[in-house]
Amino acid sequence: MDLSSLDPGVGTLPPRARFSSSLGEQSLNGTWRFRLSARLADAPAGIEAEGYDDADWGTIPVPSSWPMHGHGAPAYTNVQYPFPVDPPYVPDENPIGDHRLVFDAEAFLLDGAVLRFDGIDNTADVWLNGELLGSTRGSRLVSEFDVSRLLRATGNVLVVRVAQWSASSYLEDQDMWWLPGIFRDVTLLAKPQGAINDLFVHADYADGSGTLSIDVDSASPATISIPELGVETAPGSSVEIPEVVGWTAEEPKLYRATVRTELETVELAIGFRTVSVVDSTLLINGRPILFKGVNRHEHHPDLGRVVPREVVESELRLMKQHNINAIRTSHYPPHPVLLELADELGFYVIDECDLETHGFGMNKWRRNPVADPAWRPALVERMIKTVQRDKNHPSIVIWSLGNECGTGDNLAAMADAARAIDGSRLIHYEGDWDSSYVDLYSRMYASVDEVKAIGEKTEEQTKDPTVDAHRRSLPFIQCEYIHAMGNGPGGMTEYQELFERYPRLAGGFVWEWLEHGIRQHTDDGVEYYGYGGDFGETVHDGNFVIDGLVSADREPRPGLVDLKKVYEPVGIGIGTDWKTITIANKYAFSDLDHLRLDWAVEDAEGRYAAGVLPAIEVAAADQVTAVLPDEIAAARRDGAVLTVVARLAKDTDWAGEGHEVAWGQAGAVTMISEPIDGTAPVLTQDRTLSVGPARFDATTGRLIALDDVAIDGPRLTLWRSPTDNDNGMDHRVKRRDSSGWTGQRLDKVVGRLVGLTEVDDDHGHGLQVTTRYAAPSYDRHVDVTITWRSDGSRVAAAVRLEPSGDWKQSWARIGLDFVLDGAADRVSWAGHGPGQKYPDTGQAARLGYFESSVTDLQVPYVRPQENGARWAERLTLSGSGRGITIGGDGFAFTARPWSTPALDAAEHTPDLQPDGSTYLTIDHRQHGIGTASCGPGVLPAYHLDPTQLTEADLNFELTFS
Ligand code: GAL
Repeated sequence: MDLSSLDPGVGTLPPRARFSSSLGEQSLNGTWRFRLSARLADAPAGIEAEGYDDADWGTIPVPSSWPMHGHGAPAYTNVQYPFPVDPPYVPDENPIGDHRLVFDAEAFLLDGAVLRFDGIDNTADVWLNGELLGSTRGSRLVSEFDVSRLLRATGNVLVVRVAQWSASSYLEDQDMWWLPGIFRDVTLLAKPQGAINDLFVHADYADGSGTLSIDVDSASPATISIPELGVETAPGSSVEIPEVVGWTAEEPKLYRATVRTELETVELAIGFRTVSVVDSTLLINGRPILFKGVNRHEHHPDLGRVVPREVVESELRLMKQHNINAIRTSHYPPHPVLLELADELGFYVIDECDLETHGFGMNKWRRNPVADPAWRPALVERMIKTVQRDKNHPSIVIWSLGNECGTGDNLAAMADAARAIDGSRLIHYEGDWDSSYVDLYSRMYASVDEVKAIGEKTEEQTKDPTVDAHRRSLPFIQCEYIHAMGNGPGGMTEYQELFERYPRLAGGFVWEWLEHGIRQHTDDGVEYYGYGGDFGETVHDGNFVIDGLVSADREPRPGLVDLKKVYEPVGIGIGTDWKTITIANKYAFSDLDHLRLDWAVEDAEGRYAAGVLPAIEVAAADQVTAVLPDEIAAARRDGAVLTVVARLAKDTDWAGEGHEVAWGQAGAVTMISEPIDGTAPVLTQDRTLSVGPARFDATTGRLIALDDVAIDGPRLTLWRSPTDNDNGMDHRVKRRDSSGWTGQRLDKVVGRLVGLTEVDDDHGHGLQVTTRYAAPSYDRHVDVTITWRSDGSRVAAAVRLEPSGDWKQSWARIGLDFVLDGAADRVSWAGHGPGQKYPDTGQAARLGYFESSVTDLQVPYVRPQENGARWAERLTLSGSGRGITIGGDGFAFTARPWSTPALDAAEHTPDLQPDGSTYLTIDHRQHGIGTASCGPGVLPAYHLDPTQLTEADLNFELTFS
């Protein structure tokens, strides 16, 4: 094997479109013989010989990633290459996977056939019946070999020697697991003399009419028909069709076309769709659109890079159900199934070439392949393969040259190559901010302020001033933004508001759709997801591979649920008097006929009025205010919430009738309650004090019981178990402390009772407890004074904080910790729910009345961290016996069956075990979440800055009953 060759592939056929023909195909997927060698020198010789005896080899499924089948181990790095940067060479320690298959060929293949590999990671030599067919390059690109001469009816011997590392590994440094193998399908396609070699559909749309021409590369004459449009035409001729329905992600209309020759028929799905740019606005079929997108990698928790079709189908439905309309295939062309489904279900796709050389950045970009002419043929060929395979998909609106390769002329050559084949789509590459050879200005993780400036066209000049005017004429996308790692992402709404405000901003693609967890089991069989470093890697990037909106099993994380709200295509605003409703139709093409508007009113007792609103007609991109039926305002009362939900009026391909698309609310869960006067005296008994039903330890000043419910608290807490976003960008260590909280020792704060006095004033009797909280080694402190009063049944706690002067940076929270018996394992609350909510997340949490077990409040983030806060005005924590109810003027709470130190220490989900207590934290204030795990941190509006605290921050009251 020539592993240092820069050849773009040896012996392979010229790239062409993927289509299926009536001539037939035979899958060679299945069980193959397999043998792994640690290095090429150790690999057996002569395996290509037909008579080679592979009886002592094992077996492996094809397609597969071999480390997922017990051969070697997965390894994760983000930017850094796991081998020395010495291009085009790779280490001698280079796992070699030898694959052999003996098969019979179907008769229809014997007049001529092509052998197609849809993906081999990383490079392979291929032999059929003892003869070398050639060598593949480009893990996620197609390699086809002509096997007409060699294929026979029975006893064919196909041998594929796969090397994990080769020169092309330098081009495939995407942030994901290194997982070698024949991981996509292997197929024989019948291709006798005269068969169609290639097809290229050109189907444009303008103002209701279509223009169609289809190029057919075939020696036999062909005819083309589209019965639904009454079109009969010939290859290469352009037909004007006066009335067509355009293809859009909202209404993905596909027309079935048949291309016929005397030998075969090929069925095509055609979408009429035009992409254009006018005044730096991105238009599809003449209208401005917004990408509500995600970056999608291919990963499966058990299979690695192999993703079964049904999984792809269900994840795309899940995307549609969450108002996502666009996919960037980061950072390589996807399995073809994805594109078929994107055409059918309706997604705008950025199809990205299989290219990333990010690791050269760690070496000041020295010898970066994209800037080295020696690599140009390999790079250009990668782009050509991408465009050729996928050119007939209406869902693809943008070609992307690759990801994070720095800058270099080879990228411009790739752009030229793509344009030479297909000028109908836009060209994208993010890594060169001067954007001279692309059609979009694209950035990743640009801040809200910068995106605003770009929207206003007041951004800074390009580095090279000669290309500035070009870049200023381009639409803008964030090809990656809002990094969905762990708890978060915070601050999504702020970006969406900008996207909706400025025509130049065409939206963005969340990083990323999917966590790449690998399923593992503890010795006692408890399942969890592994991440970088769990597989013996010497070089790795920890849990940075766990940064998705869904788990590796495609379970939605709270970020996805919030994103659905942020991306909702219909804005619903309700007048405070419940008499009017304003509906904003944010679709570019669709009216709202596919939706119905349900309304319902609930209070603490449950739902008591509901109905369906009369249809409100709102054209695409328009807004209408309508009068609500009188019965709605008549249902208004104290503590009631009105919710209007836009639901699918009938079944679609991606969700059933009744599926919720968008919602809006009015009302409040606040109930007016009598103030608590201190009528109950303060009583002393032994070492306890009591005020009404509240009992206190006289030595600590802490509450120890409320009636017969044992409780220990409150203690001030300024700390939270760092989220991935709190940690910042280095994920090899669990707590990197980008927030400064560990440095300030917020996790080690202790209290000292400084005063315990009885008060008697205008509000009656009270017990005043002052505790000084401070961290080891520092003299800064916070004095917390709580005045407890009771009317005999209820208890009020008026809390006042007095911080000393020199606190720094931020606090995670102003919270009060309580510990209760673990039997208290149920919560019900009035506030926002059912999901979690932090100051800059929780867009999906709606007002209402909720209940949950303590267990179900937890979000099982792969690397455990702060999670699960709910926002409430009233909370009841109960178990088998009587519970306690805490009220206040809006607070967040978490309740957990484990302590915060246990959460801090846990590296994987099984590390968290209930310890018999319930840990309750009531937060008066919280610091935001942000997306600093990659990108901007917490926006200023969501900072909890101890130097900027207001009276409202420092004083609050809770009630206990
Ligand atoms: C980007 C990169 C992605 C991913 C992300 C962080 O820079 O393009 O591939 O690494 O950062 O998760």
